[in-house]
Amino acid sequence: MAGLDKGFEFIGLQEGWRGFVEGKTQPLVLAEVKEIVGKGGTILGTSRTNPFKKEGAVEKCLATFKKLKLDALVALGGEDTLGVASRFHKEHKLPVVGVPKTMDNDLSATDYTFGFDTATTIAVDAVERLRDTGRSHRRIMVLEVMGRHAGWVALFTAIASAADWVLLPERKTDVRAMCKHLKKVHDRDNVAIVVTSEAVQLPGMDTQGETLDQFGHMLLKNRGLGEKVAEIVEKETGIETRSVVIGHIQRGGAPTLFDRILGTRVGAKAAELVAQGKFGQMVALRGNEVVGVSLEEATAKIKTVPAEWLKLADTFFK
Ligand code: F6P
Repeated sequence: MAGLDKGFEFIGLQEGWRGFVEGKTQPLVLAEVKEIVGKGGTILGTSRTNPFKKEGAVEKCLATFKKLKLDALVALGGEDTLGVASRFHKEHKLPVVGVPKTMDNDLSATDYTFGFDTATTIAVDAVERLRDTGRSHRRIMVLEVMGRHAGWVALFTAIASAADWVLLPERKTDVRAMCKHLKKVHDRDNVAIVVTSEAVQLPGMDTQGETLDQFGHMLLKNRGLGEKVAEIVEKETGIETRSVVIGHIQRGGAPTLFDRILGTRVGAKAAELVAQGKFGQMVALRGNEVVGVSLEEATAKIKTVPAEWLKLADTFFK
């Protein structure tokens, strides 16, 4: 793996772009990173700072880059973080390479982002536990999962846990069909499971969420989607229904095997791209290949659940 043996010195910028603005660094020596492959969270910390939205912040970032005498900047994150990285490359000619990391799996140009498999595996485990308690009480159980405006987490959770219905932001919810199906399942199994994405828009629902950060994102968990779905289901079916929000439990704990290997592969490829001077690229998983793609194209729009996956969902949830 070219790049790893080039004698690079790695310096971590703490808390994402905030560290770049404020020049807060941390040396990433071998002792610090050797066992990182099995750790949850991030040792650098993270923030929702967008330097392009703060007066004078871009200039501060450029000064940090110069002061630290950096040869390259490797940005790890989702569409926000990598969108900023892309602008630094395009508008300020910084030598940047992007690494796709988000539990939402909503980055274009890559099949998977690391974090997604771990977060979704935790949600699958949660459904299995909910099914046990739901069956004991003869209830319908609703699990609200994260994922922002893409339904990947909800869809994969629902399929992998053999749930009975899934609500996705990519399409309208047929409330009547859902309730009818849940009643039928409950009559047969003494329990029924619904997985809903946090960003789903229910008929008649006017709340979009509260503005959360400098990227204009919404805090979606306060919309109380799971609770609203449970209310509707209970009213329509007459069956006692409970809802649970998995929330940040999804974002902790040891990574799965898939994420450990993906994280390692994309990291090694990023080092290779830096060694080759190929900047303005994002590392992407395409099939089983790890390749470099245009960072600008990768961040142009988010990757939502496409028609072929929705068709598969229809096989199970209707
Ligand atoms: O983008 C990752 C994510 O976990 C989303 O799925 C979720 O909507 C959001 O972050 C939650 O943000 P916070 O941790 O600020 O509550």
